[in-house]
Amino acid sequence: MDIDGKYYRAFKERLEKLDAQSSKEKIRKQHAKGKLTARERLDILLDEGSFEEIDAFVVPDTEGIEFGKVEKNYGDGVITGHGKINNRLVFIYAQDFTVMGGSLGIVHARKIVKTQEMALKMGAPIIALIDSGGARIQEGIASLSGYASIFHNIIRSSGIIPQIAVIMGPAAGGAVYSPALMDFVFMTSYTSYMFVTGPNVVKEVLNEDVSFEELGGAEIHAKKSGVANFIYDDEENTILGLKKFFSYIPSNNVENPPRIEEENKTPGENKKLLEIVPDDPNKAYDVKEVILNIVDKNSFYEASELFAPNIITAFARLDGKTIGIIANQPKVLAGVLDINSSVKGARFIRFCDNYNIPLLTFEDVPGFLPGIDQEHSGIIRHGAKLLYAYSEASVPKITVILRKSYGGAYIVMNSKNLGGDFNYAWPTAEIAVMGPEGAVAILYRKELAETEDPKKLKAKLVKKYRDRIANPFVADEKGFIDEVIDPATTRTKLITAFEALANKWVEVPSRKHGNIPL
Ligand code: HXC
Repeated sequence: MDIDGKYYRAFKERLEKLDAQSSKEKIRKQHAKGKLTARERLDILLDEGSFEEIDAFVVPDTEGIEFGKVEKNYGDGVITGHGKINNRLVFIYAQDFTVMGGSLGIVHARKIVKTQEMALKMGAPIIALIDSGGARIQEGIASLSGYASIFHNIIRSSGIIPQIAVIMGPAAGGAVYSPALMDFVFMTSYTSYMFVTGPNVVKEVLNEDVSFEELGGAEIHAKKSGVANFIYDDEENTILGLKKFFSYIPSNNVENPPRIEEENKTPGENKKLLEIVPDDPNKAYDVKEVILNIVDKNSFYEASELFAPNIITAFARLDGKTIGIIANQPKVLAGVLDINSSVKGARFIRFCDNYNIPLLTFEDVPGFLPGIDQEHSGIIRHGAKLLYAYSEASVPKITVILRKSYGGAYIVMNSKNLGGDFNYAWPTAEIAVMGPEGAVAILYRKELAETEDPKKLKAKLVKKYRDRIANPFVADEKGFIDEVIDPATTRTKLITAFEALANKWVEVPSRKHGNIPL
């Protein structure tokens, strides 16, 4: 090739233009807000030199724009392509806020759609780095149609390739629904926010003053709305968190998660486990201590930590293999199941089931939360989601009952007849229709009203109930659990049980889809 010839020169000039087109002022503004540019983010996320850009030179469609203007530029405000994270292929789109506020025009949308289609075809995860003012106002309906195509593709790919959204600035208007449809959402405190309508509209319509942070900042979405699953203090840590997340998941629904051998093997027997759960059923403890004493060292990675903390959802490893953990947390609201914890657990279970991640449940739950607020807000409908998700999941499913396991909550938390593969109980387990106090009050109301010393009679009956009913041995003898195990040996038991389940195969009835209560 003649490298001094016209075409090669034009090729080189275009590359130079692409490099030089970013406005220095806009990059300065981006940095001043504590944000990185789209390319800087890709540099942190991807293995060095692995990024292959696609469609870098497409230009926006400026025809027929009659209101405002669309800046001529290469790329139309989104960088798309593929690269590697720890040597595994991922597809990416990263919105560039320095170009028309990362707003989504039709060409910008087509680039994303092309990336989505490639990711699905190659069976590789897709990551959206979102920094966008939403639908590009100047392009009107064309930009809305672009969003519709993107959403349609996310839904088509759901359950086939992992789809992860990282919010790195505004996600306004249409920009919020891509993350909402994806599997997990990462956010950065103070520099990212998500809302369908912003503070100005809130002021106009409702005459209420609210800041960006209060309306849709990372903390709000992590604690209150549950939209954000992982939040970090700055962008770099957010991206590093995403890389860590990737170490637990496979690239698609027909692969198994990667195996990461523990450097120093955790011992199979651990006497510390005998000391964590208090004998007194009314005493709280931190179930994380139980989990950390069982799983591989440094492998615990919690999802949605701040939302509904009465249930824990976390990834971890057992003997190097990824598992998804669902655990009632007695430290918060006694570990009760309410609307938010049911929905949180259900969604996590469905992700694990999609991506061949075995489920491990630690159970200590007094039941569903009673009350007018919960009933009227639909605990029936939402609690059913958890029930449905557990029962529907065909990955290996093991439950360890640590202490309380009463009533509907016993059934829901992966009980044997709901499809639990191995159901173990510690000797501290209390399995029954309800707790001893409630049972005695109902069955012996008359006797308690008539006796001279109701306190004494009640204590006697509670003890009898514990001895005869609310213990693990009755369930063990009747076969409702598989074994009462020594807490110290839980890790070994679980590793062996998951090994036995490695080739579990469940025939799923053919149907269009089930109808999970939404
Ligand atoms: C076109 C946009 C834009 C948009 C921002 N810009 N949003 N251009 N369409 N939606 C441009 C700005 O004009 C500006 O251009 C540049 O991006 C940077 O924006 P600033 O406002 O200067 O930045 P900042 O102060 O940081 O505020 C960011 C922001 C604000 C909060 C996102 O821009 C904003 O409120 N934008 C509109 C958000 C919104 O209401 N979106 C909903 C669209 S409707 P210059 O030339 O000055 O640099 C929608 C419906 C779809 O999405 C529904 C589907 C379900």
